[in-house]
Amino acid sequence: MACPENMYFLIGLFMSGVLVCFGQRDLITTMPDRLDVLTGSCVQIPCSFDIPDQHKDTFNRAILLSGVWIKENFDGRPDNVIFNSSKTVNRYQGKITGNMSQKNCTTVFFNVTTNYTNIYFFRIESQPYHATDTGKYVEIVVSDLPSSPILTVSGEVKEGTPVSLNCSAVAPCPEHPPELTWTLPTQFTTENQLQENSDQTKSVLSTVTFNPSYLHHEMNITCTAVYPVGTSNKTAEHNVMLNVSFSPKDTSASISPSDPVLVGSCVNLTCSSTANPPVTTFTWFQISGDKPTQVASGHSYSLIVTGDGELYFCEARNSHGCGKSKEVQLAIKGQEEPVNPKVFEIVGKTLGLIFLFSLIVFFEWRRRTSRLPSGFDMTDRSQGLVGMNSPVGTVCSNQATVGRGNQ
Ligand SMILES: *[C@@H]1O[C@H](CO)[C@@H](O)[C@H](O)[C@H]1NC(C)=O
Ligand SMILES: *[C@@H]1O[C@H](CO)[C@@H](O)[C@H](O)[C@H]1NC(C)=O
Ligand SMILES: *[C@@H]1O[C@H](CO)[C@@H](O)[C@H](O)[C@H]1NC(C)=O
Ligand SMILES: *[C@@H]1O[C@H](CO)[C@@H](O)[C@H](O)[C@H]1NC(C)=O
Ligand SMILES: *[C@@H]1O[C@H](CO)[C@@H](O)[C@H](O)[C@H]1NC(C)=O
Ligand SMILES: *[C@@H]1O[C@H](CO)[C@@H](O)[C@H](O)[C@H]1NC(C)=O
Ligand SMILES: *[C@@H]1O[C@H](CO)[C@@H](O)[C@H](O)[C@H]1NC(C)=O
Ligand SMILES: *[C@@H]1O[C@H](CO)[C@@H](O)[C@H](O)[C@H]1NC(C)=O
Ligand SMILES: *[C@@H]1O[C@H](CO)[C@@H](O)[C@H](O)[C@H]1NC(C)=O
Ligand SMILES: *[C@@H]1O[C@H](CO)[C@@H](O)[C@H](O)[C@H]1NC(C)=O
Repeated sequence: MACPENMYFLIGLFMSGVLVCFGQRDLITTMPDRLDVLTGSCVQIPCSFDIPDQHKDTFNRAILLSGVWIKENFDGRPDNVIFNSSKTVNRYQGKITGNMSQKNCTTVFFNVTTNYTNIYFFRIESQPYHATDTGKYVEIVVSDLPSSPILTVSGEVKEGTPVSLNCSAVAPCPEHPPELTWTLPTQFTTENQLQENSDQTKSVLSTVTFNPSYLHHEMNITCTAVYPVGTSNKTAEHNVMLNVSFSPKDTSASISPSDPVLVGSCVNLTCSSTANPPVTTFTWFQISGDKPTQVASGHSYSLIVTGDGELYFCEARNSHGCGKSKEVQLAIKGQEEPVNPKVFEIVGKTLGLIFLFSLIVFFEWRRRTSRLPSGFDMTDRSQGLVGMNSPVGTVCSNQATVGRGNQ
């Protein structure tokens, strides 16, 4: 056995320490462990207290209840007493807003400066009961800049599925809570509310809802907290990059070499696509007799050209779905440049449309001109060539002007 005496001594020391800490607690307060505060703003310390059984009778007889805040150390040296509710002038401007008779010692300090950063103990003074809670203190940390709001995304952000994000910012001065705003690459709706945390401190929670698209992948979302301080604002923000999962997009098939090749040579078809998570399978199809037939799988497909009217497309797939490329046709050297029958169709339709349009324009023109009194048409035109006042004459006069200008 190694030094049993020392061990018992240590245990004894520990036990007496426990007694010192808990045995002498004549007042039991509940307050947050720590409060982060902005310079120039206010701080509300949520506080409540309870009286140990042995002092309940004394407390129940208490009159003129007042609350005292002591900084740094509970010994209560006058230097450390920064607030005494029975005094009108205090080191710290403040107010006990809670109802002390209901054991609510919630206190607000105004115009916080950086030298308020410290730990604080609470004391009750009355006739005849008075006690300081030596077992609990609140740490106040004052800074010039607000801390960043906290942005949370729950679960997977999927294309086409509305998603909600939370942004929460502490509101140490609930009278002047921060205002939360969002920057998103798309339209959104928001809902803000002041909420109470488990330690009774307050926070502003903003929930944004939007519909993610694959175009938003890797774009930033920002939540900005604006804290009003006096006549100015202090801001803090939190950025997150969106990770939107989506089915394959922009799927395309390319041929290498792209120039026409001889029958019997080897070409590579390559499929490309963007997807999140990445594409897991690529499948190749050949169109033969209007029907696609699966011919291969894999990112690239190497084949021997047979010169048999080869039309291909590929399909990319991930866990969210699939995307299809346009059809590509192999170009064969020596053969007539293969012309897709669709080209004829398109050209034919376009020409047809132009013809139809010209007909409409022609008949419309005829309809309008025939409505004019007979004879006017011709005279007007003949006058137009020489005259200055006819409706069509402006064209001529312009030409004349140009002519004169050239002389
Ligand atoms: C608080 O103020 C009262 C009245 O002025 C005074 O009697 C008491 O001693 C003060 N308490 C402390 C801890 O300074
Ligand atoms: C204590 O008082 C504060 C300020 O008046 C109030 O906001 C809070 O709700 C009260 N707490 C309880 C437990 O009643
Ligand atoms: C505080 O609480 C007591 C008892 O519950 C009540 O009589 C008193 O009106 C309250 N004071 C204020 C200012 O609300
Ligand atoms: C805070 O300080 C400003 C001057 O710096 C003063 O005008 C204002 O009244 C103070 N606020 C409070 C609540 O005491
Ligand atoms: C805190 O610092 C300010 C100046 O920033 C000074 O006016 C004030 O007296 C200080 N307060 C205390 C309690 O030391
Ligand atoms: C946002 O906050 C609400 C209310 O606290 C909660 O129900 C929800 O689960 C939170 N959502 C996210 C994405 O954190
Ligand atoms: C997103 O934010 C990061 C820093 O948070 C920045 O580096 C990046 O350029 C931003 N991206 C876009 C698209 O704005
Ligand atoms: C502070 O922010 C609010 C909105 O959050 C805005 O209305 C106000 O104009 C801003 N004030 C200053 C001085 O920038
Ligand atoms: C096709 O790809 C294979 C391997 O991926 C390569 O060895 C070959 O040279 C490529 N052929 C052509 C014509 O690009
Ligand atoms: C984005 O999400 C995908 C699928 O949910 C995942 O595989 C990937 O690791 C994520 N990327 C980042 C940068 O978080």
